[in-house]
Amino acid sequence: MTWLITGGAGYIGAHVAHALRAAGEQAVVYDDLSTGIRERVPSGVELTVGSTLDRALLDRTLTAHAVTGVIHLAAKKQVGESVEQPLRYYRENVEGLRVLLEAATAAGVHSFVFSSSAAVYGVPDVDLVTEDAPCMPMSPYGETKLAGEWLVRATGRATGLRTASLRYFNVAGAATPELADTGLCNLVPMVFERLSAGEAPQIFGADYPTPDGTCVRDYIHVADLAEAHVATAQRLSGAAPGTDLTLNIGRGEGVSVREMVDVINQETGYATPPAIMDRRPGDPARVVAAADRAAEEIGWRAKLDVRDMVASAWAGRAS
Ligand code: WQD
Repeated sequence: MTWLITGGAGYIGAHVAHALRAAGEQAVVYDDLSTGIRERVPSGVELTVGSTLDRALLDRTLTAHAVTGVIHLAAKKQVGESVEQPLRYYRENVEGLRVLLEAATAAGVHSFVFSSSAAVYGVPDVDLVTEDAPCMPMSPYGETKLAGEWLVRATGRATGLRTASLRYFNVAGAATPELADTGLCNLVPMVFERLSAGEAPQIFGADYPTPDGTCVRDYIHVADLAEAHVATAQRLSGAAPGTDLTLNIGRGEGVSVREMVDVINQETGYATPPAIMDRRPGDPARVVAAADRAAEEIGWRAKLDVRDMVASAWAGRAS
């Protein structure tokens, strides 16, 4: 079967494209190149440049490649920007998904994997957040991911489409240097940027109710995340019509910002003490996955740790 990977020229999507190819699956990439990079697409995988809002182009692409499965990663993903431009986020992330689902079901696609986020939970009040925890997103970005899950699930119920929503936790690292994250939106690249500029890494708040006072997150290596997509795609392929999975994709292990900054200093050869700044508005103290359901449903567990993430991300930056 052939998988259409939307957003497959992006940081995570390109990792998924490479991992699917390595697993012997056929893939085509669909990306508007707004943030994606053409060179990330694996050789031998065709790239169609376009928007998921373009129904006619989607129809042509799905038919031309006889696509039977979709992995949908194309989306806007900046929390702060979503607060300033909610309508843009709803158009691209929710309307783009709705159009894609319409095209996919019309074209006879039978499996659909949706890129969701731990942002759907908002501020969890448990140590390990299970998939059944209440979803109370704190930003328009998180809302669009939750609404996306609803759209995907409802379509599966109505049409028999096999669906999975993967709730990514904090993604970092690179499988190969060329696939590294070129954005500067998250902790690891932001700390790299400051260290390289000879400045102290910033910690946004050290007075949280956590062991060292800094926020705790569940960091997941993008290569492990890509393998989770492969496992999900293969699981859906053999599943009954209407199968519907919602899975946390994390390691189930909390790492604090201070611990991450220490690992980054060690792995990059810097030894620059961090500067403690004010809290960043909207940051929950702790967000860590319960990772058991993914192990049960798709037989997947993360293998790589934060040191692997930092070292591989740094190799990508230096390349
Ligand atoms: C991690 C921690 C910061 C930079 C967001 C989205 C989530 C997902 C991943 C998209 C926080 C702290 C950061 C710095 C710091 N997005 N920090 N100094 O906020 O957990 O999650 O990105 O798909 O949905 O909400 O990730 O990497 O921005 O921050 O102290 O220079 O690091 O305050 O506690 P976050 P992040």
